[in-house]
Amino acid sequence: MRYLIVSDIHANLEALNAVVAANAGLYDQILCCGDFVDYCASPNEVCDWARDNCNAVIRGNHDKACCGLDNTDDYNPLAQAAVIWTMKTLTPSNTEWLRVLPKGPVWIEDAFQLVHGSPFDEDEYLLDVPEILRARQSMQAPLVFFGHTHLQGAIQFHGDQGGMIPAVALNESARVIQIQPGDYYLVNPGSVGQPRDRDWRAGCALYDSASQELVLRRIEYDLPATQRRIVESGLPPALADRLTRGQ
Ligand SMILES: [Fe+2]
Repeated sequence: MRYLIVSDIHANLEALNAVVAANAGLYDQILCCGDFVDYCASPNEVCDWARDNCNAVIRGNHDKACCGLDNTDDYNPLAQAAVIWTMKTLTPSNTEWLRVLPKGPVWIEDAFQLVHGSPFDEDEYLLDVPEILRARQSMQAPLVFFGHTHLQGAIQFHGDQGGMIPAVALNESARVIQIQPGDYYLVNPGSVGQPRDRDWRAGCALYDSASQELVLRRIEYDLPATQRRIVESGLPPALADRLTRGQ
């Protein structure tokens, strides 16, 4: 089976459309590691698309916040403003869809898993060595896709050794990785809608479970259109500015 794996779309419809178009014909199923909404101006369009097109989904922390399952006490004022806007904008049907999204880990093909933050805590950020080592110990599958950090890349574990596989380089559009039997992998496909690795392009991954080939991709999209819609919708303009810098 060939999978398109996306994460952290964050209501960025233009980025999502570009990712789907660029991968046309290259996948059989679409999987998403959560955070469908918040930050950008198309939460309903993105939820509608996911309901129609995703074969497996899990919830992210922003999905929980925007449907009232979680509070926003630890969010900064900018993020709180976006949550309030998104809650007002979501249709009742999409709010309910977000409320019943499954919590990761979710198994795919009984072979690999999706999580939002980490295998041991859906809200944990896999950024530092202690959390990454704890995640390795909690892995129930040799291959786990995660999101949440908005940083594309992977960690490969060979025995006791762990190594970083970086994001797609700024002057390239893809990084091809051959999954090695016996090794363990934590893979972040990158954020579709709000990358934070200083590359404005939408991130995604293709994984072929037959050939064991994994491809990290970066896709250009109509960034000015997304930014215009953020500003025109009444969301904080800073949410548009940060997209330019990939932050
Ligand atoms: Fe996110």
